[in-house]
Amino acid sequence: MKVKPVYWKDIGGMKEIKERLQMCIERPLRNPKIFKKVNLPCPRGILLFGPPGCCKTTLARGLATACDANFFVANPAQIYSAFVGESEKNITELFYQARLCAPSIIFLDELDCLVVKRQFDTKSQGIGEKVLSTLLNEMDGFGTRTEFQKNLKWQTLLNCDEYLEEEMPQSDQVIVVAATNRPDLIDDALLRPGRFDVVLYVPAPNFEERESILHALTSKMPISKVDFRKLAEETQLFSGADLKNLCNKAAMNALRKNMNAEFITEENFEEALKNSQPSITRKQVDKYERLASKYGPVITQR
Ligand SMILES: Nc1ncnc2c1ncn2[C@@H]1O[C@H](COP(=O)(O)OP(=O)(O)OP(=O)(O)O)[C@@H](O)[C@H]1O
Ligand SMILES: [Mg+2]
Repeated sequence: MKVKPVYWKDIGGMKEIKERLQMCIERPLRNPKIFKKVNLPCPRGILLFGPPGCCKTTLARGLATACDANFFVANPAQIYSAFVGESEKNITELFYQARLCAPSIIFLDELDCLVVKRQFDTKSQGIGEKVLSTLLNEMDGFGTRTEFQKNLKWQTLLNCDEYLEEEMPQSDQVIVVAATNRPDLIDDALLRPGRFDVVLYVPAPNFEERESILHALTSKMPISKVDFRKLAEETQLFSGADLKNLCNKAAMNALRKNMNAEFITEENFEEALKNSQPSITRKQVDKYERLASKYGPVITQR
């Protein structure tokens, strides 16, 4: 899938997270030999979690641009189907295609809506649990395509390793990146090493990051003498999405005052700020910090 490119420079702040993603994904995909030499496998999966609007999806897009790998995006609406067995098949097909086109990145957005925690006290499996079990199999590299199962030649040669290697696309160089606001709803089986073996906390931006995000978001806007440091101080608990909204409002204010305005001024930003609220609460931040200390290894920036 072609995604609108997002370059690392378009993403403000997040220095440590960007470096981590480059080390875990970009470099192994670009230079697999260097990592093979020290027998270091690529991580199978990376889970990004944090409050809404704080750059998880944008980071995944940045990664796709930087790696120049094939990028497969799957959100729950694309995977789930009303027909029996179809949702599991969609997951299987997704991994199959990603393996065929390797190196590739599969991005599972809103992972908590895609798979549910298994309930050990109920006998029958719900659709969410079946999707989870298919995803676990695929991440372990055991997924098979339905067409293969129907194929007699495939079945008779199932014990032949050579044939397996030749015909079945391998899962090396297929990395799964997932994003969620609710890591507490993710089944523990997905978080064990070998599946999502790197869990990264993407927190709400701090003061310096807000300043850097404001610079990144306004890099293509005609700005006249706006003190972004001051603005960053005044936007505590604003997410990246809130800051983007603030910049859009400021631009709109400039046009409302003068349809031929050439610049967006500090006054336009201050006016926009009066009509803006942070979408993140202190309580939410505390909750995410607690989750961050549970789902290590993580980057906690404050
Ligand atoms: N660090 C950042 N630098 C530049 N833009 C950002 C940053 N953080 C967020 N944004 C902007 O905010 C918008 C929302 O970000 P994004 O969709 O990545 O958030 P998210 O964490 O995936 O949110 P959700 O959990 O609701 O899916 C994006 O359009 C992006 O342009
Ligand atoms: Mg998102």
